[in-house]
Order: sequence, then C-alpha cells, then structure tokens
Amino acid sequence: MTREISITADRKYSVFIDTNWLSNLQELSKDRQKIGVVVSSNMREQLSAIDLSSGKLDIFEIPDGEAGKSSDVLFALWNKLNLSGFTRGDLLVGVGGGAVTDLTGFLAATWLRGVDWVAVPTTLAGMVDAAVGGKTGINTELGKNLVGAFHSPISVLVDLNWLETLSNRDFAAGLAEVIKCGFIADEEILRSIDGMGIDEIRAKRELVQSLIERAVAVKAHVVSEDFKEGSLREILNYGHTFGHAIETHSQYALRHGEAVSIGMVFVAEIAYARGLISGELFNRHRQILSQVGLPTLLPDSFTLSDLPTLTASMQRDKKVKGGKVRFVVLHEGNQLARLDDVNSSEITLAYEKILS
Ligand SMILES: NC(=O)c1ccc[n+]([C@@H]2O[C@H](COP(=O)([O-])OP(=O)(O)OC[C@H]3O[C@@H](n4cnc5c(N)ncnc54)[C@H](O)[C@@H]3O)[C@@H](O)[C@H]2O)c1
Ligand SMILES: [Zn+2]
Repeated sequence: MTREISITADRKYSVFIDTNWLSNLQELSKDRQKIGVVVSSNMREQLSAIDLSSGKLDIFEIPDGEAGKSSDVLFALWNKLNLSGFTRGDLLVGVGGGAVTDLTGFLAATWLRGVDWVAVPTTLAGMVDAAVGGKTGINTELGKNLVGAFHSPISVLVDLNWLETLSNRDFAAGLAEVIKCGFIADEEILRSIDGMGIDEIRAKRELVQSLIERAVAVKAHVVSEDFKEGSLREILNYGHTFGHAIETHSQYALRHGEAVSIGMVFVAEIAYARGLISGELFNRHRQILSQVGLPTLLPDSFTLSDLPTLTASMQRDKKVKGGKVRFVVLHEGNQLARLDDVNSSEITLAYEKILS
C-alpha cells in the first residue's frame, strides 16, 4: 500500500512510497503544457514506456553520475528549456540517483527563478536521502555541492521496482543512510534487520518498504523542524564529518554510503573512548554494518600518513562552525551530542583503530 509522508520545508510536499511513478506523473502532468524529464544516459532505456507522442514531453539525457551534476550540463539544459519555451507553469522531473535529482532540483531552482519539479529517485540512497530535504546543487571546480539552492520538489515518487536493477553495492550504500537513521532516531530500523544479510533484506519487499518509510520519516521530521540546518538537522550528519573526508580522499572510489559507514564506526570509536557509549552499542555499529556488506575499516590504501590531510579536509568542510570540527556522537540512552573539542590524540587513536 502506498504510504504518504509529508514534509514542511520551503514548501509543504509529500514523499509517496511504493507507488507507480509513471501513473502518478501522468496525474501531476494533467494541467501542464510541458514536462521536461531529466535522466542519465544509463537509465534512459528504462523510460521507454513513456509515451512521447503528445509532444508535451521532452526527455533530457545527461551524463551518468557526478559528471551530470556540472555547470556545463546545467548550461546546456537552460538552453534546451529556452528553446522549448519552458515557462513557469511547466514541470521538470528528475528520474535517477541522487546526482540526477540534485541537478534537476537545481535546474528547477534557477530556471525563471524557480519552477516546479518532481523527484523520482531510483537508488536507495536517493529515496531515503538525496531526494528528501530540499537541497539541490551541482559540482564545480571549487568543490562538490558548493553551488546549490534549497528548492523542494512538489512531490517525491518512490517506486520500489527501481531497486530490482540496483547492484548490491549501491543497495548497501543506501542502507548505510538507513542504518544511520536507526542509530540516531529509530532503533526499530536496527532491530528489524538484525542478523540479516543483504540478500535476505532485498528479498523481503515489505521490509524494504518499511525501512524506506522509517528512514524517510526520520529525515522528514528533522527537516520539517529545522529546514536550514540549525542545530537539529546536524544529527543527520552522523558519520559524515569523517565520511566526507575519506570519500573525497579516496577520489570517490568509496561510495558515499561506504564512507559514511566507516565514518560512523570512527565516531563510535571516539564516543566509546570517552565513555559516552557502551562496548555493546559500539559493537552494534560494526556488527550491523558489516552484516549488510558495508566496510567498517578503511581500505588498505589508507595509512597513518593520510591523517593530516583528512584532518585538514574536515576543517575545510562547509559545515564547520567557528573554525572547529564538530562530530555528532551517540550518547548512551538514545541521546546525541555534538563535540567540538575532540583533540588530535583522540582522533589519532580512533583512526588507528579503523586502519585495516
Ligand atoms: N540533496 C541531498 O540532500 C543529497 C543527500 C545525499 C546525497 N546527495 C547527492 O546524491 C549523489 C549520490 O546519489 P546516488 O548514491 O544515488 O548516486 P548516483 O546518482 O551517482 O547513482 C549511482 C549509480 O547508480 C545508477 N542507477 C541509478 N538508479 C539505478 C537503478 N534503479 N538500477 C541500476 N542502476 C541505477 C546511476 O546511473 C549511477 O551510475 C551525490 O551527488 C550526492 O552529493 C544529495
Ligand atoms: Zn549522506
């Protein structure tokens, strides 16, 4: 059954889970003159069911992955919207992983100072994270996601059928964000997958739906309370301070979710060393992440000599406040704390523990 989760951000909108995206889109398109569907090259074939005969619909194909989130692609799409006479009453639709929905959202934010758009996330990471929360953006030579806007879609359509073609690696990467929500806000997520491997989880459609619903509910709640990243939204950053640094340092050989998985173990090490969490809660991180195939140790290309670069990268993170690196950590009893006084020897100790 379709579940609707509403979010209050720069606008009020809903995430529809386990829905038929194409029939939903037809519904949303009724009163629009033009619909522009943005899709990446390797997902284009999956849109063959779309009827283009009305002339109302354009499909804009962009390069796959991060390459699609560029200023060149954005510029080319502005030109296409101009040529097709795309007005403020028309609709953009992003069908793809987080890279496509980030680009489409930013295209929608910038064209005519803002047009409506719909997110159709096709990766698990997109469903539970990238397409939810209103952040859109592109990569530039200055860095990843430095140029962007808050511009929520009018709807997010989550169709679980997309997940069938997703690799186990990408599915697990998405699960890292789901598990993160389990640690920061919804213990039931962790209980419901306890002891299960990735194949067992994927085989249970109802379980997958419930994991997506729970993770979206956590993000929707946090974003609705704190849209523009005051203090509460920071909890979504669990595992991300260190995660971002190793993701960049690996030159994206590590998927975002894999980096976050290692990042969660890293902050759990710090919290355990400070006595904030028990050995049991610490072990739960390693156990639950590794059981779904996520890494809990750094790849062997990382050595102690990389630590100064990683520390510098954490200090440059756009979420740094007042020049201090902040880590979100768990605190026994489902509490969260933000630490901005973690010293270099604590960091070194935690880092040594996660070297492989
Ligand atoms: N806006 C936000 O709040 C937010 C949050 C998290 C991440 N992001 C962004 O999201 C991006 C990462 O998203 P992602 O992990 O979805 O990666 P992605 O968009 O690069 O997709 C990963 C790969 O999976 C392929 N793919 C997509 N759907 C598929 C399917 N159903 N079956 C088979 N293959 C499929 C894609 O073509 C791509 O090759 C990053 O750019 C990140 O910055 C944004
Ligand atoms: Zn993330």
